[in-house]
Amino acid sequence: MSSRGILIAGNWKMNHGPAATVKFFSELKERSLSVLTGDALDLFRSGKLRACIIPPYMSLFRALELSKGMPFPLEVAAQNAHWEKSGAYTGEISGPILAEMGFSWVLIGHSERRQYFGETDDTVRKRTESLLAQNFKVIACIGETRAERESGKTEEILHRQLRGLFPDSKAGASTYLDGRLVIAYEPVWAIGTGLTATPAQAEEAHVIVRRFLTDKVGAGAAEKTQILYGGSVTPENIDSLLLCKNVDGALVGGASLKPESYLALLLAGAKAELANR
Ligand code: PGA
Repeated sequence: MSSRGILIAGNWKMNHGPAATVKFFSELKERSLSVLTGDALDLFRSGKLRACIIPPYMSLFRALELSKGMPFPLEVAAQNAHWEKSGAYTGEISGPILAEMGFSWVLIGHSERRQYFGETDDTVRKRTESLLAQNFKVIACIGETRAERESGKTEEILHRQLRGLFPDSKAGASTYLDGRLVIAYEPVWAIGTGLTATPAQAEEAHVIVRRFLTDKVGAGAAEKTQILYGGSVTPENIDSLLLCKNVDGALVGGASLKPESYLALLLAGAKAELANR
């Protein structure tokens, strides 16, 4: 795990407008000054621990400005972006618009996009492919529903979603895995439900993902790719998840909304990374 480092990404979903964003960042700054010190700061400096907040569009710019004044590197990502660079796509945001504003990270294919907004494997691939080609870093989400898990289809679903995400050719797929694509395994039944996957369930799914990547592009690139777990991660359960060999961090919704709990998640990330050195 150590060589890949740990990423703690906080997905705010449709929460925290600009005023709440200011409050979050100022509290996080104040609290982090006293607890994120020494080894934890070194981990940030070496890139072994990374933090990323994913606010709603209207709070993005404020978050980006404030992130620059934080005592540790805090990246800011958008929750979605279109595959076309411009055009008649009301309600969408493009890569060039995000790049102009200074963003370099985008979350793609969250299950709430798939569930409520008609996102498909195909549109997830189009977005991912286009944004990676525009030099963005992408966190692409996959995960099975409860019914799919209960009918023993988890592996099949993850394979389908992963196949959909990658270009067919090995050469095309290899360009994806240069460290800019992060996969987030988020079982749909665990998102916002308080039902976290057990560490064994998370590890099993992450091994499926890593094996797929190995078959697709080879062990070298697959070993370097970060795979995050998401679904009801909290400061109370993150330690056991980060003990798993193939869990390289977390994509966190609810528990990323409060500075104290997001900070606790970062500290857990630092602890896990230090323990695995
Ligand atoms: P949750 O959300 O942590 O609130 O379950 C995770 C996510 O949807 O990314």
